[in-house]
Amino acid sequence: MPDQPIDPPSPPAATGMKKGLTSYGDTGFSLFLRKAFIKGAGFTDAALERPVIGITDTGSDYNPCHGNAPQLVQAVKRGVMLAGGLPMAFPTISVHESFAAPTSMFLRNLMSMDTEEMLRAQPMDAVVLIGGCDKTVPAQLMGAASAGLPAIQLITGSMLTGSHRGERVGACTDCRRYWGKFRAGEVDADEIAEVNDQLVASVGTCSVMGTASTMACIAEALGMTVPGGASPPAVTADRIRIAELTGARAVQMARDHLTIDRILTPEAFENAMRVLLAIGGSTNGIVHLAAIAGRMGLEIDMAALDRMGRQTPVLLDLKPSGQHYMEDFHHAGGMATLLRELKPLLRLDALTVTGRTLGEEIDAAGPGFRQEVVRTMANPIYPQGGIAVLSGNLAPGGAIIKQSAADARLMEHQGRAVVFDNLEDMASRIDSDELDVTADDVLVLRNIGPKGAPGMPEAGYIPIPRKLARAGVKDIVRLSDGRMSGTAFGTIVLHVTPESAIGGPLAHVKSGDQIRLSVARREITLLVSDDELAQRALDQPVTEPTADRGYRKLYLQSVTQADKGADFDFLKAAHMTGRVPRV
Ligand code: FES
Repeated sequence: MPDQPIDPPSPPAATGMKKGLTSYGDTGFSLFLRKAFIKGAGFTDAALERPVIGITDTGSDYNPCHGNAPQLVQAVKRGVMLAGGLPMAFPTISVHESFAAPTSMFLRNLMSMDTEEMLRAQPMDAVVLIGGCDKTVPAQLMGAASAGLPAIQLITGSMLTGSHRGERVGACTDCRRYWGKFRAGEVDADEIAEVNDQLVASVGTCSVMGTASTMACIAEALGMTVPGGASPPAVTADRIRIAELTGARAVQMARDHLTIDRILTPEAFENAMRVLLAIGGSTNGIVHLAAIAGRMGLEIDMAALDRMGRQTPVLLDLKPSGQHYMEDFHHAGGMATLLRELKPLLRLDALTVTGRTLGEEIDAAGPGFRQEVVRTMANPIYPQGGIAVLSGNLAPGGAIIKQSAADARLMEHQGRAVVFDNLEDMASRIDSDELDVTADDVLVLRNIGPKGAPGMPEAGYIPIPRKLARAGVKDIVRLSDGRMSGTAFGTIVLHVTPESAIGGPLAHVKSGDQIRLSVARREITLLVSDDELAQRALDQPVTEPTADRGYRKLYLQSVTQADKGADFDFLKAAHMTGRVPRV
């Protein structure tokens, strides 16, 4: 497949079934025993001599976003065998957004550890990572980056859109929009039940530019999928063909020993960040990219990312920043269309899993055609990148806002803080008629950071207080140390770092304080003096959360802040070698 030679590989010491033998103190016996067991499944010696391609099967009845996993595994196996390899599917953890308590983010690092260790423990020359739902693709890329094998990502693909009373709907921007209408009394109980049947019209990942779609586009921009791997919906023939191609490609990667460190370079991360900004991608994409980069010894330079954002318009017209859905993006040519438009801003020499560079793949995709989903650089849907990086005394380690999904009227705003101490406090008071709140206030929610909830839940999309919603208020400035779903919208400041649970300034904001947001100046400021803040910290010291046992204990001891990807400190690369992006 490569049309230019790639650097000579340094072959691994052992390959195929001979890799990573179980320790019995006698390697000959270890291999003898391994082959005896696998022959119990009917394999021949000829099959066992082939390159072994692992396939992570993340199908789960709890994960409808991976509901097509059985067909994908079959298609990958077909591709592997057509190319002369031996496919070996194996299960790993699967994490779905709505079926993970307290939050899927709490389990992302566990999934990455599972993936890494099973890639290390089992004999395979390359691996196909099947992921889709929000945390799964980052978890797999993190694990594979640490394991160091040749690895290729296969996305499960987006769901189809549904229809409600003639209006096209899809998860989950429309889930939030209709729930907001229900809260405001604009939609009754019967209608909201009808909508519930239509929001997720098939298996597959959320149909808008949420975190799953964002990570699919990022995976392709990183060079970790075959060309065109991001956009085909889950239930299409295109998705199955991509799976077959992925399997075949994995075999060649094993033969070429095209390891992941040759793909996940600083240039690849720069391309991924450029794409994140240009698609109006989920704010979660930054956290995940920081975690994946950390595994490769790279730190995200948030100030440089903001500079990059100022030069990168949003081109993709998808909800929640725009109008369309993922299947429309696919019909518009998918990532090839976007990358062709972004070409002047990309690192074209970054190597991809095909063995060719990103620039070569863009050229190979051929000319574009008339379509309405990817705008031109001259006619963007938003003039700057979707995400702006803020700082100030309220967020010394930074915060972010998805400006492309915010209300332009509120981007320069000063208001009175209305503080909720945690999720329970918010749930008990947000809909009370007694809540002292106006549309000009700033809603503050704390203790939802990486350690706070724990797991940095997507609760930063604080609901509009019911009495304001009923009065027709559609947006209000909101601020927290948590995350929000990529499918959400509003003037919402997120990832305030350091978080309140470890004593960040957010812990000491009081209702009635003035807060100033200036997206133009990239500032988030608490209008309280340093002395007063220091006194408040002395008066009410913060006790960090702990746990007695188990994964929660490991998590609370080890999780890092949002700007470091909320990865575990012991999982990042042993040596940090640089910062990205270099703009
Ligand atoms: Fe799985 Fe949205 S819930 S992608």
